[in-house]
Amino acid sequence: MNNKDKKFWNERRQKLKDDIESKRLNCAVAIPEAKFVENVGGIIRTANAFLIKEIILDQNVYNKAATAGTAAWENIQVTKNLFEYIKQNNYISVALEQHPRSVPLWDFKFPINSVIITGHEVQGMSDEMVEQCDHVIEIPQYGLVESLNVSTATSIALYEYCRQYRRIPKDSI
Ligand SMILES: C[S@@+](CC[C@H](N)C(=O)[O-])C[C@H]1O[C@@H](n2cnc3c(N)ncnc32)[C@H](O)[C@@H]1O
Repeated sequence: MNNKDKKFWNERRQKLKDDIESKRLNCAVAIPEAKFVENVGGIIRTANAFLIKEIILDQNVYNKAATAGTAAWENIQVTKNLFEYIKQNNYISVALEQHPRSVPLWDFKFPINSVIITGHEVQGMSDEMVEQCDHVIEIPQYGLVESLNVSTATSIALYEYCRQYRRIPKDSI
């Protein structure tokens, strides 16, 4: 590719990136203790679909194929100290977990600056972590299996966040 073509494609890419950034809402997903890289990739793909602000990981590891090429466009933050990061960035923490404290998803009004925190795929979220969260939400289930895949559960929660905020004209938020 010659320099003129490179410049053209770089400018196009930047324009697209700026457009995407301008449409993001102030919501994040945190995956503090992922076990399966496919699930992290799937969550990154969903985060891109709904254009949330960022994905917070404890290490920058995910399955590229599962992201369907979206990771390059997403804001991925890596921190070992999630609750310090949450405080510094003025998020309200929302644990996604089946827990005695949890509120059914359809009764919950998300704060606009929510960070949705996911639990471990096998063990779920520790009580200590749930205790640190401002809110706890649960997706009601009726079938034989008692929990959802973490990527599926995150998609449902992000869809609901979006349903609550994307219906409002962005300027009025
Ligand atoms: C497969 S679940 C964890 C294991 C689960 N505690 C169990 O005993 O089968 C993985 C994670 O997905 C999320 N999750 C799954 N189903 C959920 C539901 N119905 N409501 C809220 N979060 C859910 C939670 O973050 C949970 O920690």
